[in-house]
Amino acid sequence: MKNLTNSYEFLLPRIDGPTCIAKAWAKTPILLSASEKERSRNHIRHLLKLHNAVIVAHYYVDGDIQDLALDTGGFVGDSLEMARFGRDHPAQTLVVAGVRFMGETSKILSPQKTVLMPDLDANCSLDLGCQILDFNHFCDHHPNRTVVVYANTSAAVKAQADWMVTSSCALAIVHQLHQKGEKILWAPDRHLGRYIHDQTGADMLMWNGACIVHDEFKALELDQLRQKHPSAQVLVHPESPAEVIAMADMVGSTSAMIKAVIDGKAQEYIIATDQGIMHRMRQLAPSKKLIEAPTAGQSATCKSCAHCPWMAMNGLANLSNCLEYQFGEIDIEDSIRIKAFHCIERMLTFTQNNSALLAHAQYGFINHIGVA
Ligand code: 13P
Ligand code: SF4
Repeated sequence: MKNLTNSYEFLLPRIDGPTCIAKAWAKTPILLSASEKERSRNHIRHLLKLHNAVIVAHYYVDGDIQDLALDTGGFVGDSLEMARFGRDHPAQTLVVAGVRFMGETSKILSPQKTVLMPDLDANCSLDLGCQILDFNHFCDHHPNRTVVVYANTSAAVKAQADWMVTSSCALAIVHQLHQKGEKILWAPDRHLGRYIHDQTGADMLMWNGACIVHDEFKALELDQLRQKHPSAQVLVHPESPAEVIAMADMVGSTSAMIKAVIDGKAQEYIIATDQGIMHRMRQLAPSKKLIEAPTAGQSATCKSCAHCPWMAMNGLANLSNCLEYQFGEIDIEDSIRIKAFHCIERMLTFTQNNSALLAHAQYGFINHIGVA
């Protein structure tokens, strides 16, 4: 068996200096054989019991990890559901298989728990593209605006915010703030921000960030694909470009997309989000045909695919290591953690008390009717 403490096939030397998207890089977990996987899974089961731990995974991570999470009493979900599950579960240790902001959110909500991640370098282009000093500058210039930040940000950025939102509740929360006459300062995803603006008419000043994965979906190719599959429903995550969102039959969070496939009458679905979601979709809707939405693919000058390089850093080997050696622990300075708690708590209270508005906003206030 390969040495599991060396969990990666490919490592870049450490990059010093401020982190930015231009310097973004990711490691590739080592591929395990079937027997190595089985040994690793058994070892993780043992370690979970030993450390009173539970796995909280996102839909984009390796299918083996998702299956193991569910098999061992853990959870797989979207970023809002992960935050809730981690907060409410009695385990002393949460192993968050996802990206860094998900681990940080869990720690902020449960400071008394140990929060481990298979790799603390698993980040997000939205988080990396919204550095705290620049963000402070932006906020300082617009002191009269309500600051709403997407979950995909650092704890330090959340500490400056009035509200945190995820893709499953952003529309409903901004809609309500707009109804109350509040003007919004929005960060960091410009595509999600624009979608919310178009849906609600809210006055929103936008940060210019994007998800490097969803930004790759191409409207022209999507139109061609849809012509080949005229009865397919197009499901789009709102981090995608406006032209792609404009072609959607449904826009929503990862959980909402899965629900749309399970409940939908159509037999075919074109899916514009990270391809990791296909694993759970296939399990929950085995009779439906799922088609990946097109990116620039092989014709691009660099690799263009629908798979998040940071989500892909989660593997069975490094998950096992983080539990065994108790590394990859999320630690947030108290002053930041306490300030960041309020905007997350506010969102959780809102989602708990506004189920009707959330259900209404789930698929947008303005119905998507496809290509004009
Ligand atoms: P969800 O909240 O929809 O799971 O999205 C998180 C994310 O990072 C999507 O890229
Ligand atoms: Fe961030 Fe995009 Fe990866 Fe989601 S898919 S974690 S938004 S880089």
